[in-house]
Amino acid sequence: MEEKWWQRSVVYQIYPRSFQDSDGDGIGDLTGITDRLEYIRELGTDTIWLSPIYKSPNDDNGYDISDYQDIMKEFGTMADFDRLLEKAHELGLKIVMDLVVNHSSDEHRWFVESRSSADNPYRDYYIWREGKNGAEPNNWCSCFGGSAWEFDSQTGMYYLHLFSKKQPDLNWDNPVVRDEIFRMMDWWLQKGIDGFRMDVISLISKPEGLPDGEPGPNGYASFLLAANGPHEHEYLQEMNRKVLSRYDLLTVGECAGVTLEEAKSYANLDGSELSMVFQFEHMEADFHPILGRYAEQCKDLPKLKEIMSRWQRELEGVAWNSLYWDNHDQPRIVSRYGSESEEHRERSAKMLATCLHMMQGTPYVYQGEELGMTNYPWTGIDQINDIESLGNYRDYRARGYMTEEEGIRMMRQRSRDNARTPMQWDATSEAGFTTGKPWLPVNPNYVYINAAEQLRRPDSVFHYYQKLIALRRKMDVIVYGHYELLEPDHPDLFIYTRSYGYESLLVVCNFSEREQGYKIPEKYQNAEILIANYPEPAPDGTLRPWECVVYHRT
Ligand code: GLC
Repeated sequence: MEEKWWQRSVVYQIYPRSFQDSDGDGIGDLTGITDRLEYIRELGTDTIWLSPIYKSPNDDNGYDISDYQDIMKEFGTMADFDRLLEKAHELGLKIVMDLVVNHSSDEHRWFVESRSSADNPYRDYYIWREGKNGAEPNNWCSCFGGSAWEFDSQTGMYYLHLFSKKQPDLNWDNPVVRDEIFRMMDWWLQKGIDGFRMDVISLISKPEGLPDGEPGPNGYASFLLAANGPHEHEYLQEMNRKVLSRYDLLTVGECAGVTLEEAKSYANLDGSELSMVFQFEHMEADFHPILGRYAEQCKDLPKLKEIMSRWQRELEGVAWNSLYWDNHDQPRIVSRYGSESEEHRERSAKMLATCLHMMQGTPYVYQGEELGMTNYPWTGIDQINDIESLGNYRDYRARGYMTEEEGIRMMRQRSRDNARTPMQWDATSEAGFTTGKPWLPVNPNYVYINAAEQLRRPDSVFHYYQKLIALRRKMDVIVYGHYELLEPDHPDLFIYTRSYGYESLLVVCNFSEREQGYKIPEKYQNAEILIANYPEPAPDGTLRPWECVVYHRT
């Protein structure tokens, strides 16, 4: 197999609003990112995924775009972007842009035209339907709570929005829409960007007739009924033929509702669609079986292992995996599967990093994950900004599933805002993120969890990530090795091997604060220790709290 550059890459995700402010307005910006590029290079990541920086009224923090070829004014100008791209390339860093084309903003020129009259030439750019018996055209819910349809009195019809009502879904069945999008993508690629992260791209082809679905506990059918629709692969192959294949890119599709079988098409190694997908199964392993995400966390390590191992096994030789714990939509992994305690936080952060980074696929590091940043101690709903958290909170409250107090606890565990608090650069005021008032509060633990402190200290989480990333760069067994899970039913240990030719790795991770007895397989008993989060293994072979060790045999 011919190696692609992104198969050895580690990607660093930036959420621009929260990364670095350069002008004191409390909102991160492009110049702030440019000023911090050396830090990203120092970590060893070679590619940056930028969450959306396009013009947007910010109903969903930039995931609602009103002009795909302009920059959000809080973030700067196109000249600032060009400078960022140029400096990144000078430093050997690639830039992957977010591409949000399942929907636009309702303030996009296309939608303003589309809603103005039923015979407007842009009408068919979006999905309009008559109501059914005086109600919505079908029973789908929006991902942010409530119906996925909004009635528009101007023409007396409903439009579909799988996210907020300010994010109308584009009609991909209209070839003119596809061509507009392809032209816009090409415009960015001509500027020299290195790929796209495609937002909820699995939802672009809606099922024929938009049928009702089985209602869930909230009375609506899941918006995931729109996932992997009848023309999904056809449209992506068309995009690939007309645009992507003309460049050497990293493309990653965020694929809500993707199954393994589907992923084999989306991310096929034949290059006919995308480089890889973000799947969600492992992120849902701790969801409540009925109430889903915004309910008490249900941790189950054997289930998590089963899911991650199945993706490792099944995509081998057929398609390419992406690997992630954190992103701007997920609570922080240390708070989720590790420990926030002073004693164990760093150790658990290193263990979680090891478990993920020794797997097959392209790893993604989300800003602050390399410091072991944690969830925020929210104390009131009025502190929450995120539209998804607020929509679901309202929904759950209205149905009597939670009290306000339980809601706040849920926010501490689950809200997307946990990932969106400002990056913790140093111990000065507002963590060095801004000289003004940050748009979301800085986590009070910035005084001891921050980049400056970790850069000074050789045994920090930052330096541990740096080491993991450097290992991937040089070791084929990490990039290509065959994966095998050991001890599938163990409730606290995640153990697997990777093997490639004569080389092999044994990765042992203790996902708990408890000591564990584990007998290392004979083959690894005298093997070199590649990386570990305790200075020496325990003499009797016991695994201590949150311990991880990677053994290497040649
Ligand atoms: C994706 C984004 C998320 C956004 C949604 C709608 O899931 O990651 O942040 O809210 O799509 O665009």
